[in-house]
Amino acid sequence: MKTKILEILSRSEDFISGEDISRELQVTRAAIWKTIKSLREDGYNIVSRKHYGYRLEPGSDVLNIREIVSALAAVNQSGFLDIHYYDEIDSTNLAARRDIDSLKEWSLYVADRQLAGRGRLGRSWQSDPGCGLWLSVMLRPRLEPQFLANLTLFAGLCVQRALARLSGLDIGIKWPNDLVVMPQGQKICGILTETVLEDLQVRAVIIGIGINVNTETFTGVLGKSATSLKLSAGHGFSRLEVLKAVVEELVAKYPDYEALTEKNLWLDEYRSACVSIGRAVVIHNSDQSTETGMAENLSEDGDLLVRLSDGSLRRCHAGEVSVRGLAGYI
Ligand code: BTN
Repeated sequence: MKTKILEILSRSEDFISGEDISRELQVTRAAIWKTIKSLREDGYNIVSRKHYGYRLEPGSDVLNIREIVSALAAVNQSGFLDIHYYDEIDSTNLAARRDIDSLKEWSLYVADRQLAGRGRLGRSWQSDPGCGLWLSVMLRPRLEPQFLANLTLFAGLCVQRALARLSGLDIGIKWPNDLVVMPQGQKICGILTETVLEDLQVRAVIIGIGINVNTETFTGVLGKSATSLKLSAGHGFSRLEVLKAVVEELVAKYPDYEALTEKNLWLDEYRSACVSIGRAVVIHNSDQSTETGMAENLSEDGDLLVRLSDGSLRRCHAGEVSVRGLAGYI
């Protein structure tokens, strides 16, 4: 009931009457009032005005284990999700890795704040409290390691679809899995996928997803090239709603990925959402050298195929290079 009321309040830009809510949820106004009182006790800033009803004020986006469990109740009806929540942790990816021996597949790690949030290629990830969704999902794909290279792209596509659906923003994928808001191409989400191998077999994959939900200021190298859902859409979002949308998308699409069916279908979806294809790019190699070319396509393994100025085709592998647009971030 709390989640449903929050859903209604989050999507109403102005006041909504208790009568409208009770009609939509088919419960009494007294029940609505009682639930709103309890939401306020949880920290949600819900204002009420006589003859107008209720409005959820921005900045009252509370994360805690109870809220998360209840937001994910519909997708988790069979109880397969194992949910861990921290007000503060070094990194959700590191926490999942530490617990790897005892973890069930589909363990989720969510934190309000990360003290040592990690990005791709050894970078750090700004993970302030109260404004972002810092999440790791632990999976145990029953696949040979060679099929895992593009799992990170697959995760990027799932999150892209979830964020686009929820926000209505034009969200593109900058290869391999940065999500950017078009047309400016500012980064709204990054994904760090880490594979844990044992005797050359895949033991687990930890997909770390960082989404700038209501972040208002960015520090560090990203600076101007970053944005949040709030900055781009002009209003705040509930992190619980974002979490729910992302988990729903992953849960719905993952079986096809793991079964290696529909492979071309999701790769084609990825190609259409990928804003790197068709752009002039600079490849930053691990030895600090750079090359420029035109990103032409994506291979079946998820490598970006770049036509270099000498006419040769360079296969860029996600874990090895970083690719920037020649004219800006994308
Ligand atoms: C990148 O774009 O460089 C990837 C950023 C990934 C950040 C997420 S936040 C949750 C998870 N825990 C981490 O320490 N990193 C990932």
